[in-house]
Amino acid sequence: MSEKYLNSRNIILIGFMGTGKSTVGRLLAERLNYCFIDIDALIVAREASSINEIFVKKGEVYFRSLETAVLKEVLQGKRLVVSTGGGAVLSETNRSLMKQSGSVINLLASPDVVAARLAKDTDRPLLRDGKSFERITTLLADREAFYAIADIRIDTTGKNVEDVVDAVLAYISQESCIENA
Ligand code: S3P
Repeated sequence: MSEKYLNSRNIILIGFMGTGKSTVGRLLAERLNYCFIDIDALIVAREASSINEIFVKKGEVYFRSLETAVLKEVLQGKRLVVSTGGGAVLSETNRSLMKQSGSVINLLASPDVVAARLAKDTDRPLLRDGKSFERITTLLADREAFYAIADIRIDTTGKNVEDVVDAVLAYISQESCIENA
């Protein structure tokens, strides 16, 4: 892969809750020798509160403003794999920050797969009232146009983490060849 590509572009993972952004991101960063940054984890560390607590005590608007501020700060960096929260794409500012900073990769999973993966989760405030197939389908449909801004979309259903990482690596390797053609 070309040095130019490797030194200038970040890789930003977007997608619905439970699509594996953090797990895939961590392994991808390891493979590329990039730093891995999970925006939600950074927010949790800085606020010293769980995502749930932030939503309950300070509200979603506060969380979204933090999300934008942290994303803006982080995307100044280079050679990063960045995992974003499922709702980060809702903001036009965030979408444009991501597109400018690198390759945007959307991880996909069907509503039943998301529901199964998050069945035991307790830190997704937007799914606190239920993780039914219908609730997930509605949220996914509302966000579809925003996830579709990605440069590539990878369906994670039936794939293990290595398969997904390989698919991302294949894509960025092709991109780097095109850039240098
Ligand atoms: C959210 C997704 C969560 C977290 C917050 C809001 C969303 O991140 O940012 O609960 O709006 O979809 P994950 O996608 O990592 O679960």
